[in-house]
Amino acid sequence: MAKLDGLKKVCEECKGCPLWESRKNLVFGVGNEDADIMFIGEAPGQQEDEQGVPFVGAAGQLFDRYLFAVDIPRESVYIANILKCRPPRNRDPLPAEEDACIEHLYKQIEAIDPKIIVCLGRVSAKRLIDENYMITKQHGKWQTKGGRHITAVYHPSALLRDPAKKADMLEDMKAVKAKLDTLRA
Ligand code: URA
Repeated sequence: MAKLDGLKKVCEECKGCPLWESRKNLVFGVGNEDADIMFIGEAPGQQEDEQGVPFVGAAGQLFDRYLFAVDIPRESVYIANILKCRPPRNRDPLPAEEDACIEHLYKQIEAIDPKIIVCLGRVSAKRLIDENYMITKQHGKWQTKGGRHITAVYHPSALLRDPAKKADMLEDMKAVKAKLDTLRA
């Protein structure tokens, strides 16, 4: 039994907000349960809901290219979201949905115990770093929280909408890799 199996079962049965009714699949998280680094997005989209796996749609495929570019194997990391069920029509998560789901994520983080957390996008950064976080101004900046290094980068969907952000994303991801290398040295 993997160490997150119990928590996954709790999430499968969770009715803490109404999203369990409209989802096709729970999108619990994927990757190495002993990862040094966790990437945390916002909420599952359509493809993720269909497959039960985070970041497998267009945004996920673009994200994979950044992982590859900075030499971080996807299998070595753990990827999750603030919400584990898809909001209808990909709307932003409601505060009540985040409140209902966040304890599951905190438990997931505790169990994996990563050295680094990277928030993918505004929603994740506002929830995990600072409610006033401004992604355009603060992306790529580092702080420590609860003994972990934490930063935020643009959400890959934002890069699909605005390719001008891609250069910043590459720099931020290079810094993520450098931080990972330093902590492993
Ligand atoms: N966007 C997210 O924030 N998470 C996913 O899993 C997919 C798209």
